[in-house]
Amino acid sequence: MCGIVGYIGNKQAVEVLTDGLAKLEYRGYDSAGVAILNDNDIEVRKFKGRLSVLSQDLERNNIHGNVGIGHTRWATHGEPSDINSHPHWNQSCSIAIVHNGIIENYMDIKEDLLQKGYKFTSDTDTEVVCHLLNEYYEGDLVGAVKKTVSKLEGAYALSVMSRDNPDELVAVRMTSPLIIGIGEEENFIASDIPAILKYTKNVYILNDGEMALVKKDGIELMTVNGTPISKEVFTVDWDVEAAEKGGYDHFMIKEIHEQPKAIKETLSPRLKKDKTIKLDDINLTKENIENFNKVYIVACGTAYHAGLLGKVLIEKFVKIPVIVDIASEFRYGNPFIDDKTLIIVVSQSGETIDTFEALRLGKRKGARIMAVTNVVGSSIAREAHDVLYTWAGPEIAVASTKAYTTQMASLALIALDMAVKTDAISQPEYNKAIEEIEQLSSKVAEILEDLDLVKDLALDIYQAEDVFFIGRGVDYDVAREGSLKLKEISYIHSEAIQAGELKHGTLALIEKDTPVIALATQDRLYDKMLSNIKEVKARRAYVIAIAKKGNKEIEKSADKVIYIPDVMDELSPILSVIPLQLLSYYVAKERDCDIDKPRNLAKSVTVE
Ligand code: AGP
Ligand code: GLU
Repeated sequence: MCGIVGYIGNKQAVEVLTDGLAKLEYRGYDSAGVAILNDNDIEVRKFKGRLSVLSQDLERNNIHGNVGIGHTRWATHGEPSDINSHPHWNQSCSIAIVHNGIIENYMDIKEDLLQKGYKFTSDTDTEVVCHLLNEYYEGDLVGAVKKTVSKLEGAYALSVMSRDNPDELVAVRMTSPLIIGIGEEENFIASDIPAILKYTKNVYILNDGEMALVKKDGIELMTVNGTPISKEVFTVDWDVEAAEKGGYDHFMIKEIHEQPKAIKETLSPRLKKDKTIKLDDINLTKENIENFNKVYIVACGTAYHAGLLGKVLIEKFVKIPVIVDIASEFRYGNPFIDDKTLIIVVSQSGETIDTFEALRLGKRKGARIMAVTNVVGSSIAREAHDVLYTWAGPEIAVASTKAYTTQMASLALIALDMAVKTDAISQPEYNKAIEEIEQLSSKVAEILEDLDLVKDLALDIYQAEDVFFIGRGVDYDVAREGSLKLKEISYIHSEAIQAGELKHGTLALIEKDTPVIALATQDRLYDKMLSNIKEVKARRAYVIAIAKKGNKEIEKSADKVIYIPDVMDELSPILSVIPLQLLSYYVAKERDCDIDKPRNLAKSVTVE
């Protein structure tokens, strides 16, 4: 999920690698390391913490060599530690690798390798790759990599070096990004362009299933099946700042576009081929779940909004009552907590103080604590009894987007897992839900394909002083997130209202041209919602509706309609929030706001 740099040439590899890794620091990481080919030995240095810890060690030890690989890690499997940091190597330390991504079938591979007598030193998914390479290596590094990746499922960008092939580096990509930088008498591997921009502007961008044999004086490109390929050289004309954002104007829009991948990476390792769910660090048994008489979901901001969907899903599938609370209220309220209580805390950063203190309060009172978080080894992850990681990768923009959709996807898995364990769900209902979950990533991608309408709508409303979001049921939950997003980055005043509540007060605020974003994505509540749209339309509001594809009728009532693909009602928030994120983004852009760092806000709120 984080950074890779590889170098082969005439320069000191340590310098190029640490320099490249420094250029990737902005992404966030928890540890860093390098492997250098030094007098026919692979020397590995790796440490938990900042890159400066690694750099200081390298300065002290003065490791020479012109070939090397480097890594900044964003842990997904195994907490941040020196041992779990990359590079990893085989037992004889003749092959070293760095890896970004997740090997989904590492448990199965690990079992086979353990039976063959391999010993594991780390808790990472990555280490299986080293031992597989060892297993297949017969002098030909490319051949060993090909055989190894044929066994891997999941997402990976890998860079591989071998003591016995000192003139070669091998790079291979599946889902996680990887590029090859083209130099003179030197070549580079990197996960992101900024890492090598200082040295070259000419790169090959590897696609899924492609690999490269990188030598000092040449690059051979091929598929993982060995078929040679030729590629256009991509000449980067971005400056470093644009390169950090992958060519996008802001991290927020980059992260919005990363959602199909983030959702896929969060869901697919947990969904097995036989359609069962496997949640590694959740150890709730049937008895544990049957013992719970209520669930609290506790979080702040966007994570709280994800929790609102968690309630709907758990109540529907598991049939246990759920209370969703804002962490800062929960802490100072009088929550009913005992050993029959499950508390699910949701936090992207895993460090939000209110959420963390709510966790501690719950723990003191005997509740079982489950965390949904994006940061392995964070305070919340460490203290919870059970953890489900969202594998969204680092989120840099203050406004949360991919963390939110992956939190909701994770809560759907948790609800279904609990429901299956307690026989609370019928097989057809379960199958249907799984089928829907499997399609989420591609449906989000479909929404992101065409942005023209949403850009036009942003032009229509960016000068508004107030914007209202209305919805019922889960549409109201998403309305709250849409409203928060708009406030947060565009500074326009906005409110989310349960559509049925309009006539109890807020309707008084609706006048000619007031923008109203109306979410009408649930079949069950559609007629009711249509009446509410007519209600605001009668006051001459400017209505932008979000509805499911195929619903032409709504065009008669709303001014504009954004369509989302058909989806089960309870999962529609994962789709319907996408146009709202985009709308906020383009409105804020039109207003020239500081989108990635909105005024007065911090990414992680570690003070009360
Ligand atoms: C969302 O866009 C926010 N910046 C904010 O509400 C955030 O979700 C909240 O502070 C919780 O953070 P956490 O998920 O890291 O705990
Ligand atoms: N899954 C690997 C690990 O946890 C790689 C993480 C990364 O992409 O940084 O070590």
